Amino acid sequence: MTQLNRRAFLRAVGATGGAGAMLATMGALGLTPTAQAAAAREAAYRAPRTGDFTLTGRSAASVVVLGGGIAGLTTAYELGKAGYRCTILEARDRPGGRNFTVRGGDTTTDLYGHRQTARFSDGQYMNAGPARIAQWMITLDYCRELGVPIEVFTNVNADSYLYNESAGMTSPMRYRAAKADVFGYVTELLAKASDQGALDQALTGDDRERLTEFLKDYGDLGSNLQYTGSSRRGYSVWPAAAGTPGVVASDVPTASEIFATGVGRYFAFEFEFDQAMLMFQPVGGMDRIPHALAGAIGNQKIRTGCAVTQVTDKGDGVRVTYTQGGRTRSVEADYCVAAMPPNILAKVPHNLGSGVQTALEAITPSSAGKIGLEYRSRWWETDHRIYGGITETDLDVTHIWHPSYGFHGERGVLIGYYNTGANADSYAPLTPKEREARAVAAGVKIYGEKYRSELATSFSHHWRQFPYQEAAWHSTPGGPDHPRYKPLTEPAGRVLFAGDWLSYMDAWQHGAFSSARSAVTAIHQRVLA
Ligand code: ALA
Repeated sequence: MTQLNRRAFLRAVGATGGAGAMLATMGALGLTPTAQAAAAREAAYRAPRTGDFTLTGRSAASVVVLGGGIAGLTTAYELGKAGYRCTILEARDRPGGRNFTVRGGDTTTDLYGHRQTARFSDGQYMNAGPARIAQWMITLDYCRELGVPIEVFTNVNADSYLYNESAGMTSPMRYRAAKADVFGYVTELLAKASDQGALDQALTGDDRERLTEFLKDYGDLGSNLQYTGSSRRGYSVWPAAAGTPGVVASDVPTASEIFATGVGRYFAFEFEFDQAMLMFQPVGGMDRIPHALAGAIGNQKIRTGCAVTQVTDKGDGVRVTYTQGGRTRSVEADYCVAAMPPNILAKVPHNLGSGVQTALEAITPSSAGKIGLEYRSRWWETDHRIYGGITETDLDVTHIWHPSYGFHGERGVLIGYYNTGANADSYAPLTPKEREARAVAAGVKIYGEKYRSELATSFSHHWRQFPYQEAAWHSTPGGPDHPRYKPLTEPAGRVLFAGDWLSYMDAWQHGAFSSARSAVTAIHQRVLA
């Protein structure tokens, strides 16, 4: 077998027999471990292609896709590679679903009837939904494949702030100072405990020595194992030319004082597998991804303004009824992929069985909101020396994001709140002006008066209160492989389901992409069988 033929053969095995058959075949062929690893990666997902039908007597089917979010778009995009005829029904006036980038001129109306038109300047935007991508996520593979340029999204910044009002803080603390102090005192305590023999049951003498060495380095402890402050906290006068060695910030709190602030609760965030730096964003807005997908699919295949009203599995095909501009229409196809939010799908009449309905209803919607605050100047860069990253608070605004684009530009959009649960729900019923006033009042406590005086315009968005979504993400108790959800993870006749909510990466585009790939693979295997 030539190298090329061997590849093609392995792909064919992967497509019909799955990864297990492929790995067995590779073993039989005596491939090296490196080749095995590469081939296994390919086997993990293999896009359908027209050549798959050669000599099979089969041909690509028609598919109606419900929902033009990331899962729906990906389904049509991947099936389109093999010539499947896909039609996407999208209830809103644009594809992308929760991947929604707000720019000047964009208009929304929420379920309360609050109508907003964004007044952001040219080039300014907010990602109301997804806004960060980890390096391992297949979202980046789609950016590469679709030619969507990416840039770093700053998820953690040593110079952004921590502010816990309920702990009595009256001014914010820089991340770097908080970390230096918390790690300093924690390592001091541990080093002393070990030194005094408290860990002798767990540690050998060598262990103890190595632990001490690590702790002294990690916490910047003195030779007496004491933390007395560190240049890691930052300087009140920064080092400069000869004669200016700098003055280390000297307001070192005591151990008791720093523990009382509770700032340590924010540090573990950056250890998470899905939130650790580096993270990325598409240049120009997250919706570059759905735009690129829609362009590759063909915009004529995406019907916007189409709200699904009924799904009927007819045995030999599927009929979907929907309304468009007040008129009832229907579309028929060989298969259907339901890639709508489960909470919306649960309200659509269907004949897919009570198991499907029970499973859909077991998945519960979650709340999240964001407000974009456009400022006339980038005072957080000039006055606070903060370039990107997130300020963490215990206020109801929760997270404040500094923009990771447009550095040193004239204007910029801060995310004045990214909150969830009850905090998000407490802002949602307010008018957009009231939301703005409340968010600004919170920000002033941390950043001072410019947070109010430099504000040009704002736009706020709450997913739980947004038509055709009514959720920022979903909770699937027990995980998507719980038997309760079997009616959704397996085809219901000719209807299959897809969405981040059917993955282990709910609330991430990665989940939507990978779930769509599963549905695509299932349909293609069935059509080829
Ligand atoms: N994946 C969402 C985030 O990173 C929830 O904020």
